[in-house]
Amino acid sequence: MKIRELHVQKFRNHTQTDIVFGGGINAILGENGEGKTNLLEAISYLCLTKSFFGSADGIVLQVGETRFEVSGELETDSGLRYHVAVGYNHADGDKRFFINKSPLERFSEVVGLFPVVVLSPESGAITTGGPVDRRRFLDFVISQASKVYLEDLLEYRRVLRQRNRVLFDGKVNRLDCSDLLEPWDEELIDRGARITRRRGVFLKELDPIIHDSYSRIAGRAEKPTIHYQPSVAHEEGISEEDLRGRFRQDLKRKSSEEKRLGLTLVGPHRDELELAINNLGLRSHASQGQHKTFLIALKMAEFLYLQNKRNERPILLLDDIFTELDSQRSERLLALTRSVGQAFITATSDRVFSADFDWAETNKRFFVCKGTVGHAKAASITN
Ligand SMILES: Nc1ncnc2c1ncn2[C@@H]1O[C@H](COP(=O)(O)OP(=O)(O)OP(=O)(O)O)[C@@H](O)[C@H]1O
Ligand SMILES: [Mg+2]
Repeated sequence: MKIRELHVQKFRNHTQTDIVFGGGINAILGENGEGKTNLLEAISYLCLTKSFFGSADGIVLQVGETRFEVSGELETDSGLRYHVAVGYNHADGDKRFFINKSPLERFSEVVGLFPVVVLSPESGAITTGGPVDRRRFLDFVISQASKVYLEDLLEYRRVLRQRNRVLFDGKVNRLDCSDLLEPWDEELIDRGARITRRRGVFLKELDPIIHDSYSRIAGRAEKPTIHYQPSVAHEEGISEEDLRGRFRQDLKRKSSEEKRLGLTLVGPHRDELELAINNLGLRSHASQGQHKTFLIALKMAEFLYLQNKRNERPILLLDDIFTELDSQRSERLLALTRSVGQAFITATSDRVFSADFDWAETNKRFFVCKGTVGHAKAASITN
């Protein structure tokens, strides 16, 4: 997948930005606060209909304006072209997404169509944050690879909300809500068991790719592992029927506690991933550099996994990632990036690229200044 052109109107500090990208590395350069990350965020709207930071539409809308639009030309690896546009109107909160001028009924239809992998300072939460950050990673990747998973996930969340409301009302009004819970339980179990199974399969597939990506950046002395800790016990090969049975039993066992707390305590919304290097927990033992290397390996693995599943190379967005890496790891990462397809890399200087880096047709440099974009001249940015 490649983005050929990007057009941004009244989005963050970009009043009107039009860019024709190269098919390889696109370096987006400029001082702090000039609008580099904002461009990646605009690309995220194009590929995912929303900000990868989770910013609301009203926040990314340029201050004082009433409507933004992001549009562009995308091309698949097989040469298929898409014109994509997303527009937002603040007055009525109306947001629309168009592919080849046809409006989409549901935004979830876009997920996975234009696969994208994002590595930004915010991604650090995957290794340093709480379980919810790791579940978000799982869901983001698997959803891009599987429509069925995304549907299960959306439905599971809906059922969970309803079930939690019943439990909460029961708690507040001191009523036994067992009868009201019943209609939600089977749906929760059904969707939840499928999500658990799919996560288990995904992590199994990811395991060898993570090893490979990690050793490519850090050598073979360190061995990374991801251990899945599902809320409902899951092991390879377990049938869906058995998994549902376990789910049902766990719900029964936790029933009185759930009623006391007014919350659903069993299910994939309580899964955790344990990340480790050489069997030492990442959160408790790893250095900052190891965190970062693990994260890059995860993102590389995500890239290769999606490429494999979709038969399409994802777009790679690298926001500000070279700052904390030593020069050897930076070089290896850049070499990896060059081999993957189209990538967008923000940096305050082009020093991360070697002096003889080939800035020809496919690799391009752009210079961002106060929300406007020009072609960078080496002399203006290297000192
Ligand atoms: N909704 C908005 N409307 C107008 N300007 C905005 C809006 N949101 C953010 N900005 C401006 O965008 C700028 C930040 O842009 P961005 O985050 O892309 O910077 P950057 O070039 O990535 O900087 P850094 O190198 O520090 O990461 C700030 O000047 C901020 O005031
Ligand atoms: Mg930035």
